[in-house]
Amino acid sequence: MSLPFTRCRETVRGAGLPRVLGGCCALGAAVLAGALAGSSSFAVHAQQSRTAKDGVYAGGQATRGQAIYKGKCASCHGETLEGLQGPALAGDGFLGVWGNQPLSDLVGKVQHTMPRSEPGTITRQQATDVVAYLLQAGKFPAGTAELSGDEAALKQIMLPGPQAPASRPPAATAQTMAFPPAGNLAEVMRGILFPSANVIFDAQVVDPGAPRKKSSSSASDSLSVRFADVYPGWQLVDYAAVALAESAPLMLTPGRRCENGKPVPVGRADWIKLTQDLADAGKAAYKASQSRNQDAVIEVSNQVSESCLNCHRAFRDGRGGGAARCVPRE
Ligand code: HEC
Ligand code: HEC
Repeated sequence: MSLPFTRCRETVRGAGLPRVLGGCCALGAAVLAGALAGSSSFAVHAQQSRTAKDGVYAGGQATRGQAIYKGKCASCHGETLEGLQGPALAGDGFLGVWGNQPLSDLVGKVQHTMPRSEPGTITRQQATDVVAYLLQAGKFPAGTAELSGDEAALKQIMLPGPQAPASRPPAATAQTMAFPPAGNLAEVMRGILFPSANVIFDAQVVDPGAPRKKSSSSASDSLSVRFADVYPGWQLVDYAAVALAESAPLMLTPGRRCENGKPVPVGRADWIKLTQDLADAGKAAYKASQSRNQDAVIEVSNQVSESCLNCHRAFRDGRGGGAARCVPRE
């Protein structure tokens, strides 16, 4: 199995998307990221001179930001920043996520990814003004000078953490080692469960054991097309089934939020049961795939889709739209 490894280098050089494959690049990137994170956090602490408590924005700027907020953000984050389909943008929950980080992170998040429905439509200046408004709404005092959108300047200003910091989880041991979430629940769904389930559903229509047409992928194809036939048909189904079963514990990662900022209800018995059903469906799919029998996979794909649907009915698709997601209907 040397193919994915040799292609790794090409991936990094050619498309700058090293996350597409596991193997060498993922490992290298993780090690590198760890080293960078370590060193940059030292640098930040050494240079940190101000926090958002020190009057880092001007009142007039916050007023401009408020107008932008009302026009472009309130529909998803609420008139009073309380959160609707998007998370709350004030209070301890918000500071728990964005606190103890430089304001450059928050301004960048807004500038590059918001408004979620049309990212890239607000300028750096507007993003900075909205953040000034968020500071004002969060009861941080105004000063005389405006908050500058300059990246280096914003890196020097920390947003304080929440008043009552969430109680720390007990120190991790090898047994209980905790990996904090890297994304919200919808991102885990779209990144892992959705593509994996589709491989299994696809096996209902296209026999994984049938010989493949010789693919004529070229360098201009997307990476998923170019690497689609590294692993032969039945193996793909195996791996998708494993991905589903192994993704179940990710439904229970403490501290993960849903897209609307609500915590994933990891402690609820019904949620845990639905998670267990997902794990069981993934294992059953693996068994069916190992039988290399398309009929067995067709049969098990019902169990897979039921495991998705049952949880979505209870925790995703209720009345009330995005704001009600992850909030159980009693
Ligand atoms: C169409 C709905 C929508 C609009 C409009 C929108 N957002 Fe969001 N926002 C979201 C969702 C959903 C998330 C959570 C997913 C994510 O982080 O991308 C989010 C996340 C955020 C976050 C991170 C919050 C956290 O707790 O992680 C910030 C900050 C934010 N939005 C600011 C803004 C600002 C400022 C605007 C207006 C310029 C805006 N949003 C407009 C839907 C929206
Ligand atoms: C234990 C509960 C649970 C299970 C099991 C589950 N989901 Fe989800 N899913 C959710 C919730 C809750 C959301 C909304 C997440 C959010 O808003 O952050 C969601 C969202 C999604 C989304 C994103 C929808 C969007 O708005 O773009 C996709 C795709 C998805 N799920 C696919 C699947 C598939 C495929 C399966 C089965 C293999 C599955 N899910 C199993 C609870 C579940």
